[in-house]
Amino acid sequence: MADRPYTLLSCGMSLDGYLDNPGTTRLTLSNDDDFDRVDSVRSGCDAIMVGAATIRNDNPRLLVRAAHRRADRVVRGCSPTPVKVTVTATGDLDPAAQFFTAGDADKLVYCPEDSAATVRRRLGAVATVVELTPPLQMCQIGADLTARGIGRLMVEGGGRLHTQFLTADLADELQLVVAPLFVGDSRAPRFVLDGKFPWNAGRRAELADVRRIGDVVLLRYALSARYDAERLPG
Ligand SMILES: NC(=O)c1ccc[n+]([C@@H]2O[C@H](COP(=O)([O-])OP(=O)(O)OC[C@H]3O[C@@H](n4cnc5c(N)ncnc54)[C@H](OP(=O)(O)O)[C@@H]3O)[C@@H](O)[C@H]2O)c1
Repeated sequence: MADRPYTLLSCGMSLDGYLDNPGTTRLTLSNDDDFDRVDSVRSGCDAIMVGAATIRNDNPRLLVRAAHRRADRVVRGCSPTPVKVTVTATGDLDPAAQFFTAGDADKLVYCPEDSAATVRRRLGAVATVVELTPPLQMCQIGADLTARGIGRLMVEGGGRLHTQFLTADLADELQLVVAPLFVGDSRAPRFVLDGKFPWNAGRRAELADVRRIGDVVLLRYALSARYDAERLPG
């Protein structure tokens, strides 16, 4: 058995590489057809992960929206929607956030040992809090998710999370949607932060698929030998 789940990073960005507006107003980058594609990808995964800042900023539900997809999952012996996963050092998360309240799937909150008491006090009633040895790394989370039977993980951002998975070479696939607009403000969160990425001028990533979806384009990159070409999104 692999020591981490098949890991698929999913992200929408502006033409200038931003994930959102600066501040707290949420920017819609994608379109309805692409949201439906993302729903389909979600429905094929065992767990969906976002960073704590994404929960604070976007208050996402992270559910499979289409009833037929939820029903298909149940037929396959899965919960109607995937397990939800997040990570926080501060524990600054509202237990009333939709991440915790929407849907019946299990919720996992990873945190470093030194903040576990705070995080458990705040979120222990609405999620399973898992403490890990600091500095907390995505490979620890991957190993723990594997031990919990998670075979396929979808990481939906934000940029700080994507950066850690990519720089640690822990991603098998990237589904990047480019929206036809500019944000034009460097205070906005970017797709990735600075870092040493395994893909660079000397080692280019493999572009596995390109698909136009209305006014956005989906770029699909194979990032490891485990890349699952059979599972086309949408
Ligand atoms: N366009 C898209 O597809 C998309 C998708 C998702 C999000 N977004 C946008 O992205 C923005 C948020 O992205 P972001 O990069 O600022 O943040 P993020 O990746 O969502 O979350 C970062 C936070 O996660 C926690 N965290 C991450 N790595 C950790 C580690 N190794 N150990 C402990 N805690 C860790 C920390 O939480 P604490 O601060 O609580 O310690 C950190 O502040 C939002 O504006 C959101 O709207 C866009």
